[in-house]
Amino acid sequence: MEKKEISLVIGSNGQIGKVLTPELRKRYGEEAVLAADLAACNPEYLKSGPYFQLDVMEKLAIVDLVTRNKITTIYHLGEIPFAGGERSVGNTLNFNISGLVNVLDVAKIFSLKVFWPSSVDVFGPTSPKQSCPQHTIIEPATLYGITKVAGEHLCNYYYEQYGVDVRSLRFPGLISHTGKQGGRTTDYAIEMYYHALKNETYNCFLKKETTLPMMYMPDAIRAILELMDAMPEQVKIRTAYNVSAMSFSPDNLIAAITGYLPGFTVKFTPDYRQRLADRWPASIDHKEAVNDWGWQPKYDLKAMTEDVLYIIGQKNTYNK
Ligand SMILES: NC(=O)c1ccc[n+]([C@@H]2O[C@H](COP(=O)([O-])OP(=O)(O)OC[C@H]3O[C@@H](n4cnc5c(N)ncnc54)[C@H](O)[C@@H]3O)[C@@H](O)[C@H]2O)c1
Repeated sequence: MEKKEISLVIGSNGQIGKVLTPELRKRYGEEAVLAADLAACNPEYLKSGPYFQLDVMEKLAIVDLVTRNKITTIYHLGEIPFAGGERSVGNTLNFNISGLVNVLDVAKIFSLKVFWPSSVDVFGPTSPKQSCPQHTIIEPATLYGITKVAGEHLCNYYYEQYGVDVRSLRFPGLISHTGKQGGRTTDYAIEMYYHALKNETYNCFLKKETTLPMMYMPDAIRAILELMDAMPEQVKIRTAYNVSAMSFSPDNLIAAITGYLPGFTVKFTPDYRQRLADRWPASIDHKEAVNDWGWQPKYDLKAMTEDVLYIIGQKNTYNK
């Protein structure tokens, strides 16, 4: 008899977790998806199902949750925020690597399936700028990128050595209309939408021509679900798959927004994030994801802009 799918989402309160957890609950049932994060209380959007306070650094606590609840799959989304990570080398290495190793160790013991997200930050200034391929020079320029490269190889190692069914994606900048953004290099995009709806001038921290790879959150969630649904033999890359949906610059985004809100104005004051953006590829080649498990993005810049402006406008969240 097939085992019932019971998932544990570690880092459920973050940007991806708060969208992925409800989506998993729609699929598998509210009680079959456990949300877990550092915070003691579950936020409003996770109240529909079980929630646990969990520190991924505590391996025995993960074992306890897994055995008590007969978990079959872990989505490990817990991370030290990027900006903080760049400040504290020891903490970032310890958390981002040991946290993942804890999850992989538990998966090895209990034969669990794992999803863990990597990032296009694995690429650095020596990687190709345009259509950056899956297999290329990988010399990350940030500590975050270094931990992602290490994480990718750990995933592959646990797959090769112990048969752990671990799957991963190299996400580009994700754009989500839910909740506060976290000072990431690509967060100017959602900030622009909010400012445009409030009829406020936006002060952009990147130069207007800086083109970066991006993805709208509904596509990111679908990519996770489709990768996890793929048959094991379809998943030929066990480090992490390149995935992308669109590439655009602040200038391209302004043009898309002013199609709906013509009065929107932007100033440019590049800050430290410009240097980080300059080291990223401008676009990503994801043909392996397309060929191996059928990845196809649904949202381009126009479709995303229409959706984000409609949803934020409906919720009136830009006034909060
Ligand atoms: N959001 C993006 O644009 C993006 C892009 C590429 C990759 N990723 C990757 O996706 C993953 C999730 O990203 P996100 O944007 O949701 O991050 P986030 O910072 O919004 O959320 C991370 C969550 O992890 C939790 N956490 C921190 N320490 C923890 C611990 N010790 N134990 C348990 N939980 C802990 C935090 O409380 C937070 O709720 C990360 O690995 C990130 O690197 C995100």
